[in-house]
Amino acid sequence: MAHISFDSSNLSTFIQPNELGEMQAMVNAADDQLRNGTGAGAEYTDWLHLPTDYDKDEFARIKKAAQKIQSDSKVLVVIGIGGSYLGARAAIDFLNNAFFQAQTDEDRKAPQILFAGNSISSSYVHDLVQLIGDRDFSVNVISKSGTTTEPSIAFRIFKEMLVKKYGADGAKSRIYATTDKERGALKTEANSEGYESFVIPDGVGGRFSVLTAVGLLPIAAAGADIDKLMEGARAAENEYVDTDLSKNEAYQYAAYRNILYRKGYETELLENYEPTMTMFAEWWKQLAGESEGKDQKGIYPSSANFSTDLHSLGQYIQEGRRTLMETVVKVQEPKHDVVIPSEDSNLDGLEYLQGKTMDYVNDKAYQAVVLAHVDGGVPVMTVNIPKQDEFSLGYLMYFFEVAIGVSGYLNGINPFNQPGVEAYKTNMFGLLGKPGFEEIGKELKSRQK
Ligand code: PA5
Repeated sequence: MAHISFDSSNLSTFIQPNELGEMQAMVNAADDQLRNGTGAGAEYTDWLHLPTDYDKDEFARIKKAAQKIQSDSKVLVVIGIGGSYLGARAAIDFLNNAFFQAQTDEDRKAPQILFAGNSISSSYVHDLVQLIGDRDFSVNVISKSGTTTEPSIAFRIFKEMLVKKYGADGAKSRIYATTDKERGALKTEANSEGYESFVIPDGVGGRFSVLTAVGLLPIAAAGADIDKLMEGARAAENEYVDTDLSKNEAYQYAAYRNILYRKGYETELLENYEPTMTMFAEWWKQLAGESEGKDQKGIYPSSANFSTDLHSLGQYIQEGRRTLMETVVKVQEPKHDVVIPSEDSNLDGLEYLQGKTMDYVNDKAYQAVVLAHVDGGVPVMTVNIPKQDEFSLGYLMYFFEVAIGVSGYLNGINPFNQPGVEAYKTNMFGLLGKPGFEEIGKELKSRQK
């Protein structure tokens, strides 16, 4: 089975040959922190062994639940936010037809997978309710705490809709709860109502949870082969154990991005040449940003979709402030290729490309961009993946997870907590008048104009 590969050959004008080797001692220390549990946040590193050490009975139950959803629902509403949402969304887009959600039921061969609870937009929920219409649907509510505002509001709305449509008992058989194994509001409700429930393991933080039921149930319901996804992740788990920087490409990536960061390249753009990978970049942005943005430091994770954004961000990347580095995830073999047709008039001057394929042009665009950006002072790294299938995706996600874990330790922070995400919630609860937050609310209101 083809593996992914990391290409650092375009860094030679930015990094001296000795610099990688000089990171080896730090990488050894970071590896020790990660794998031997000597680093901060060690209690959240169970994702490291998830591809081999997972609950096989639950995995079988996930597949069965996915089959049931496929048999009785035209729509699955997946409710969650942040780490309880982005992995599934990224994977479903990555693996399926570019117009998966718009395909007919017959073509899709799986329910439409629609997401809710990932914003507080009433217009979005209104439109989603309309889109579901009178079609049969189920709900997978995903929340570790069960009290996150966005998914909790959405869950109330879609639960009420289910009860109206199917009655209280019918609704219960269409709600799948993915949550803590014993604590929290959602677990309590799932137990008392008898929802089928799945576990977000204690030692796996939200942004590292895509290979648990958090990601696996929606991904399987969309028709993907989750055995292959785990197989790819397993291959990566085996591949990235050697701390030797000349061998471990995930650690190379972690080391190079930190060398570049210390030279002033403070923003990393994750780039793709496939529109179905836009959400993959969103998943990566949470993984990197929530892991590394701490103690007033950290690489700022951003993204760009090419060639689309070459016509918008391209100017800045080429000639703006020299603080950007790029990591391209490049697909070697497209899902489909299309031949450029011939046209007698040749008014567009494209006749020299007739008979060539679009992927040939896409690849040349990639090569041209790398050369131009390197000339313009932007370091470019490339992660090559053979194709957009389950194996490659599992492999790729694990590659980034292990790289970001090590990268965080290289930068001296705890990669596995997220204290900063609480600040807005506390303020919002204060302003909303949530019981227990009245004093904060009073103080905030006094500061408002
Ligand atoms: O990574 C994280 O911790 C966050 O993105 C959470 O996953 C997100 O806030 C959702 O939390 P919960 O699963 O408790 O609803």
